[in-house]
Amino acid sequence: MATLELKELRKSYGDTEVVHGVNLLIESGEFCVFVGPSGCGKSTMLRMIAGLEDITSGDVKIAGDLVSNVPAAQRGLAMVFQSYALYPHMSVKQNLSFGLENMRMAREEIERRVAEAARMLQIEELMQRKPGQLSGGQRQRVAIGRTVVREPKVFLFDEPLSNLDAELRVAMRGEIAALHKRLGNTMVYVTHDQVEAMTMADKIAVMRAGIIEQYGTPLDLYNYPTNTFVAGFIGSPRMNFLDGTIAERTADTVTLKLVGDHSVELDAKQIGGGVGDTIEMGVRANHLELARSEAEAELIFAVQSVEQLGGETYLYGAVGGDVSFTVNVQGQSEIVGGDKVPMKLKPELVHVFDKDTTLSLRQ
Ligand SMILES: Nc1ncnc2c1ncn2[C@@H]1O[C@H](COP(=O)(O)OP(=O)(O)OP(=O)(O)O)[C@@H](O)[C@H]1O
Ligand SMILES: [Mg+2]
Repeated sequence: MATLELKELRKSYGDTEVVHGVNLLIESGEFCVFVGPSGCGKSTMLRMIAGLEDITSGDVKIAGDLVSNVPAAQRGLAMVFQSYALYPHMSVKQNLSFGLENMRMAREEIERRVAEAARMLQIEELMQRKPGQLSGGQRQRVAIGRTVVREPKVFLFDEPLSNLDAELRVAMRGEIAALHKRLGNTMVYVTHDQVEAMTMADKIAVMRAGIIEQYGTPLDLYNYPTNTFVAGFIGSPRMNFLDGTIAERTADTVTLKLVGDHSVELDAKQIGGGVGDTIEMGVRANHLELARSEAEAELIFAVQSVEQLGGETYLYGAVGGDVSFTVNVQGQSEIVGGDKVPMKLKPELVHVFDKDTTLSLRQ
């Protein structure tokens, strides 16, 4: 078991800095996911932790020990890559034991570790096969097995599932989460898929352009995003945003004027900001309900298309003229494209962000 600590970690390629002084403490045994759009620095961070990339400045500590200058092989880490190469001419068993033989480990110890990993990953029946005789998911398990046998303090995964088809990805997601439960090791997992992050992580670091925008549990990020980037990145479908201003503020209520002459009243204790401030209101597709009448409505939603999934319905359209908007209602709906639907917000679930700083005004 080992904590993993990053202090003011920076990386430059030539004159271009791509990781800008990241601070992070991952607790022992935690499953931490780095998520963010392509090019934000996820792999670079992971490779600096692994020792595969020079650190420009700052520190990496594993279990409290400074490892910034320790070679990769001695850091007690093991990494699974997006494109993992198994040795095609070796059996599964040989693929699993090869790395340990290179370390001149005793035969019995190798046998023990390989058998243990095979049992854990449920590949015992496949031990004599060659990689070419395995399915994609089985190959992925062997690749993970190669890291498991090294009994590392910390596991690092860089998009290990991105080469698999959708169904297998979901299954492997569950397997890696189960592996984490069984082993209890600290794990860092990189993905650009926020659903993967939400379903697997104890803690998520949302990255953008070389910085961590927010670090927290999946539900912290979903419920309390600190800025519009995190609010828009975490959660599916993407949060709806409407431009507006703070029109009025009393001891109890705050009134927002929104595009399309819409007006919304929220609890003053929940939302900061002063009268006249320009804001963006954010509301998730499933945090609205149909109003009984236009008088009761806070938004008029011009529905353009409808997706009936049986158990739930997605409505796509616009609010205030041309701001695209999505609403998710439970069950089946009579609403069709072309309808103008009066909607009410669930006020305690509405987000308000300062338009200039993009920061949340929720208190
Ligand atoms: N060897 C390199 N030389 C110069 N720039 C690099 C090098 N490797 C990465 N970069 C740049 O560093 C930034 C971060 O890259 P990185 O691979 O960490 O992104 P990522 O978040 O893993 O993206 P992806 O989701 O596409 O894998 C990118 O802008 C990339 O172009
Ligand atoms: Mg990457």
